[in-house]
Amino acid sequence: MPRVFVSDFIPGDILEPLATLADMDVWSQPSAGVGPRISSGGQGVAPQISSRVPRETLLERLAACDGWLSMLSDTIDVELLDAAPKLRVISQMSVGVDNIDVEACRGHGVTVGHTPDVLTETTADTAFALIGAAVRRLPEGEAIVKSGAWGPWDPWHFLSSDLHGATLGIVGMGRIGQAVARRARGFGMRIHYHGRHRLPPEIEQGAWFHHSLQSLLPEARFLSLHCPATPETERMINAETLALLPQGAVLINTARGALLDDEAVLAALDSGQLFAAGLDVYAGEPALHPGYRTRRNGFFLPHLGSATIETRNAMGFRCLDNLDALLAGRAPPDALN
Ligand code: GLV
Repeated sequence: MPRVFVSDFIPGDILEPLATLADMDVWSQPSAGVGPRISSGGQGVAPQISSRVPRETLLERLAACDGWLSMLSDTIDVELLDAAPKLRVISQMSVGVDNIDVEACRGHGVTVGHTPDVLTETTADTAFALIGAAVRRLPEGEAIVKSGAWGPWDPWHFLSSDLHGATLGIVGMGRIGQAVARRARGFGMRIHYHGRHRLPPEIEQGAWFHHSLQSLLPEARFLSLHCPATPETERMINAETLALLPQGAVLINTARGALLDDEAVLAALDSGQLFAAGLDVYAGEPALHPGYRTRRNGFFLPHLGSATIETRNAMGFRCLDNLDALLAGRAPPDALN
């Protein structure tokens, strides 16, 4: 039987069928339910327990493995591939693969699978929740209720702007961008988008295509990012591009932190060029720019875009299908190379 390393929690339902395919080396055991609730509010926040496998242990354990069920938080580079001479297959539980040097994998004869499609709707739900929460100042409202500082109602209390009827700019109109557009239509928003290609009219459904980011930005009162992190998209949201947005725009990022120049985003939050930002992802996460901790007009989440039980299960099964096919030498549903 091939040996497969599993580098983090995967849903319990996946482990059983996986055991029929491979001799497993599982770093951390699945926990039941939705995991512990973390208390909110400054002082009281419990540190999140990380079960990440230390790099040295990872290199050691992979040396004996033919396959690997990897996570987006694993850095997959030449050093690691050199340390894993038997490795033929990587099946990653995420759609984003910016943690993987896919070319190096090809060079080492390692085929890589990932999990597109199954997390599209859940990630779009998160993006849309962030849009609403950021513009309607929900985190500030919640903080005042929990702190006990809520005073009498007055007409200026927590004023913000309408979501319905506003213009949403989408960067990257792939599966997730399209799913966000479907939600926005339900809110009566006008949709503008920039992507590599113009979509056919039946998918575009009246959305306005822009050949360039620069042409999209002045239209986007709300801007939601849905493109992968690549050398071309790195820091695409910077001082220059933020200045092209309408004054008081709202920035949403559920894609990858590398798309943002953090200093420029913080400066725009301070100057009012951005009314608010809703971010789920950060360059170098779980570390993040310390400035994000102090901005009241930001709503910052810990990369939970696809974190529902249903979607994690679906991602796990997708990984399993990829692994099964790759180990058996068949074409997998979602191979990158
Ligand atoms: C989540 O960020 C993913 O890429 O699946």
